[in-house]
Amino acid sequence: MTITDPADYWDPLWASGRRYRSLGPEEQQLTRHFLSAGRGRPALDIGCGDGTLARYLHADLGYRTTAIDCSSAALKIAQAEQNANDGPVFQQLDIETGDTSVLPDAGYALVTCRLVFAFIKDKPAFLDRIRCLLPPGGTFWLVTPLAERLPEERKSIGITMQQAELLTASWSSVRSEDLDSMRCYALRP
Ligand SMILES: C[S@@+](CC[C@H](N)C(=O)[O-])C[C@H]1O[C@@H](n2cnc3c(N)ncnc32)[C@H](O)[C@@H]1O
Repeated sequence: MTITDPADYWDPLWASGRRYRSLGPEEQQLTRHFLSAGRGRPALDIGCGDGTLARYLHADLGYRTTAIDCSSAALKIAQAEQNANDGPVFQQLDIETGDTSVLPDAGYALVTCRLVFAFIKDKPAFLDRIRCLLPPGGTFWLVTPLAERLPEERKSIGITMQQAELLTASWSSVRSEDLDSMRCYALRP
C-alpha cells in the first residue's frame, strides 16, 4: 500500500472511530516471553496509535516508554486513555520524515513497531533509522501481518516474503514466532 501523507491517511480513520487489533492475552504472553523486564530502561513504540502496546510496555513490563505516531488524532485518543500520573510519553513524529533527535533519548533498549511496517514507504531507510536508535544489546520488536496469510482484499496490510527477508537481513540475532496471520520478530543488532 502506498500512502502519500501518512497523517492525512490515518487521522480521519482514528477520528471516525476505526480501531485495530487489540493486544490479546496470547500476544501479551509472547511479548513478555521475548522481551526481558524493562527495569526503567527506555523503550520507543513507533506508530503507537491509541497507545495499547506502549501502555503495556510501560505499566506491565516496566519500560520507561516514549510512543510516537504521525497522527494527531491517534495521539489524542492515546492521551485520553492515559493515567494522569504515570504512563508513556506520547509525541507526534513521522518516523520516515521527522527528526529523531527531538526524542527524549538518543538510544533505546527496546524499539517496538506493531502493525505499521507494511505501511512504511521506504523500508530500507526505516530499518537504518531503527538501527541508529538501538545500542548493542537492544531489541527491535516488530509485529506484522503476513500478506500470504491474508485474504486478497486485505493483503496490503501485511508484508510480502521479500519484505520479510529485507526486515530480517543484517541482524546478529533473529527470532520470530507466529500468531495466526501475524509474525512477531525479535531482532538484535
Ligand atoms: C494499524 S495502526 C497500528 C497502531 C498501533 N501500533 C497498534 O498496534 O494498535 C498504524 C499506525 O501507524 C501510524 N503510522 C503510519 N505511518 C507512520 C509514520 N511514518 N510515522 C509514525 N507513525 C506512523 C499510523 O498513524 C497508525 O496510528
